[in-house]
Amino acid sequence: MKHKLDRRQFISDFSLAGLSIAVGFPHVVHSSSTNVKPALLGGPKAHPDTFPSWPITAEMEKIELLDVLQSKTWGRLNGKAVGRFESEYKAITGSKHCLGVSSGTNALYTALGAMDIGPGDEVVIPVYTFVATYNVVVLNYALPILVDTDIETFQIDATKIESSITPRSKLIVPVHIGGSPADLDTILKIGKEHGIPILEDACQAHMAEWRGKKVGTLGLAGAFSFQSSKNLNCGEGGALLTDDEHFAERCYNFHNQGRQAANTNDPFTPTRASNLRMTEFQGSILLAQMARLTDQTRRRSENAAYLTKLLSEIPCIYPARLYEGVTESAYHLYMFRYDKEAFEHLDRAKLMEALRAEGIPCSGGYNAMNKEKYVTDLSKNKHYLNIYGEKTMQDWLEKNHCPQNDQLCEQAVWLTQTMLLGSKKEMEQIAEAILKIKRYARDLIKA
Ligand SMILES: Cc1ncc(COP(=O)(O)O)c(C=O)c1O
Repeated sequence: MKHKLDRRQFISDFSLAGLSIAVGFPHVVHSSSTNVKPALLGGPKAHPDTFPSWPITAEMEKIELLDVLQSKTWGRLNGKAVGRFESEYKAITGSKHCLGVSSGTNALYTALGAMDIGPGDEVVIPVYTFVATYNVVVLNYALPILVDTDIETFQIDATKIESSITPRSKLIVPVHIGGSPADLDTILKIGKEHGIPILEDACQAHMAEWRGKKVGTLGLAGAFSFQSSKNLNCGEGGALLTDDEHFAERCYNFHNQGRQAANTNDPFTPTRASNLRMTEFQGSILLAQMARLTDQTRRRSENAAYLTKLLSEIPCIYPARLYEGVTESAYHLYMFRYDKEAFEHLDRAKLMEALRAEGIPCSGGYNAMNKEKYVTDLSKNKHYLNIYGEKTMQDWLEKNHCPQNDQLCEQAVWLTQTMLLGSKKEMEQIAEAILKIKRYARDLIKA
């Protein structure tokens, strides 16, 4: 059976025993000579150490957490930590409003709830995304319209969005996958021309920028995740950003059982709501973690740029390209495509096995979502058949073809953000590991 590591599992497995970024890496292997074998064939590992552990914690986390513990106010309604976090996140992103919630999924769910997305509505999403983007649409009995991927950038192919719009389209949700911004110029233009709001799924994209503006602040709203693997993390958590005051109030209502904030100006009375509140403990950890975010973002970017330079020199390794409007990527993932042509047709699975043996953790990323059973079975879901009818659901199933994405899902290789917190030398070791594998591809096929 084909086994793929889940992204979160992947990040936690390979970061537990790591070193702090401040620690040096004395056991560097210089294997640029052509006779050094890959580790899978008995040679020394290209990267014998461990990448930085995740999350990084210090005294600050203890102070903030103890503060909440001792205050005996652990819920946000009477506490201070979530409010402090919201103010600081607003300040570093340049957004007018921020709402902390219990997860990234619930940030998206809150936004859809506040927009009153429901049965009969269509929501445009990329096919290359984490399942949560799809799930929040389906939880509202709306129809997810999957758009193919731009294989060079791994992002939603913005040129294919317009043809997926119908009179039932109520929302477009671009995802900044891997933490790199989607083509927001094109997407915002389409949204404006068709009068359809844009909800940015920025769950992987903390501090990423499009033309100097933080992502999550360019559409009507932006959703963020603070789940354990994320660049900003409190175990589980999420936030919504928006510049629209009324929308911010609706989101607050939706996440707080329909109860309005004390200072509300919005006449809207919600008829559906939930409890999706962030706890004070989550808020306190985020306050401490946020203090390192800017430095970590810079370090990831510098290392990613260096790695791209090194990998671009290797034939048939294609690092994900950034759009011209990207002024910062969050590099939640470092993603590249592997074309086995220049590697004697060595399978991607074997390449990844060999990389792991070199001490370079990696995964193949997402499966083709449109082919997953949980997606194809939607066409048989009794509620969907009631709402949309058999013909619409059959047509929906048949239209779910994403050939570029199919190819990408066969070729993608992911490295995690924690690896980009390593040293420059470690970026060289990643490239060296790939080069070793390339040189010995024929022997690896036989092994
Ligand atoms: C693109 C994307 N959207 C949504 C989510 C959901 O976030 P959470 O896990 O915090 O619910 C994630 C998290 O993995 C994500 O990567």
